[in-house]
Amino acid sequence: MTYPASVKLVEVGPRDGLQSIENPISTEEKIQYVNMLSAAGLPEIEVTSFVSSKWVPQLWDATEVSSQIEQNETTLYTALVPNQKGLEGALESGYKSVAIFTAASESFSQKNTNCSIDESFQRFEAMKPIWEDHRLRVRGYVSTCWVCPYEDAVSAESVLKVVQRLVDLGVQEISLGDTIGKAVPDSVEKLLDSLLSNFSASLFALHFHDTYGNALENIRKGLEYGITIYDSSAGGIGGCPYAPGASGNVGTEAVAHLCSEENISTGVDRDLLAKAGKFIQSITSEKEAVAS
Ligand code: HMG
Ligand code: MG
Repeated sequence: MTYPASVKLVEVGPRDGLQSIENPISTEEKIQYVNMLSAAGLPEIEVTSFVSSKWVPQLWDATEVSSQIEQNETTLYTALVPNQKGLEGALESGYKSVAIFTAASESFSQKNTNCSIDESFQRFEAMKPIWEDHRLRVRGYVSTCWVCPYEDAVSAESVLKVVQRLVDLGVQEISLGDTIGKAVPDSVEKLLDSLLSNFSASLFALHFHDTYGNALENIRKGLEYGITIYDSSAGGIGGCPYAPGASGNVGTEAVAHLCSEENISTGVDRDLLAKAGKFIQSITSEKEAVAS
């Protein structure tokens, strides 16, 4: 078994990590978190999302955060967008990379974005001429690739169909979401067997939440299959407000450690990464302590 020589870590802490915390943190603290992540050399950072503040009040300051972070030339900065309004917000803030999101299960799509999977693709079709005009890089998320909090097990066929639609839409990268952390190495293997008989491994990223402590073993499975892109959150913070039971993303520190043990290069400064993780953990745990 040979693992890839290098992988790309996509840092989603500032978006996925901060979108469901009970007591929002200040705009300045968010900016500092992103700046520390940039300093650690993460190749891609999902900075925020341009979604409805009624749905995700925690990220109300997407514009402010985006305009004040210090950007470096080696990091790709991405914003999550659900619809045309979100895409326009991201463009006004100068993003060259956006992530769209849908799901492999209907119930989650409805709860998370108030639309069916079909309707989410109608939204994307309306956005496509805009992202093409602006030559944006577009990543597509598929949530609930293994288990849905409302429908339980999700079939590989359902995931395959959504992946095919995203490919037809022209996205450059597809992140497979284990939204509530219920994937296990066997189910990761099953899905990858099915997807990789149709698509190249280089198309995919894996996005594991670590609710039950399976994320690192799942990532090992992904490495076996030649997947080279992994989403994670420094400090292991995170969760989706519309996915009961979702806890934090796998920690970027833990993924970087695994890679280092296996001689897989990430280009990340692990000391600076640890500082960013500790910084955000200290702030979010302080807030939780106040809340309880
Ligand atoms: P809706 O209520 O159906 O939308 O929500 P609407 O078009 O009827 O608009 C309602 C209001 O929202 C209007 O304002 C719009 O202007 C406004 P009002 O007239 O009432 O004042 N609005 C917006 N405001 C700001 N930015 C926008 C926007 N769009 C409409 N882009 C909508 C539909 C998609 C907007 C809503 O459901 C939403 O924002 N959902 C986002 C939920 C979310 O962010 N979930 C977490 C991210 S996904 C995730 O975590 C999973 C992932 O990590 C992978 C995994 O783990 O599986 C990616
Ligand atoms: Mg997520």
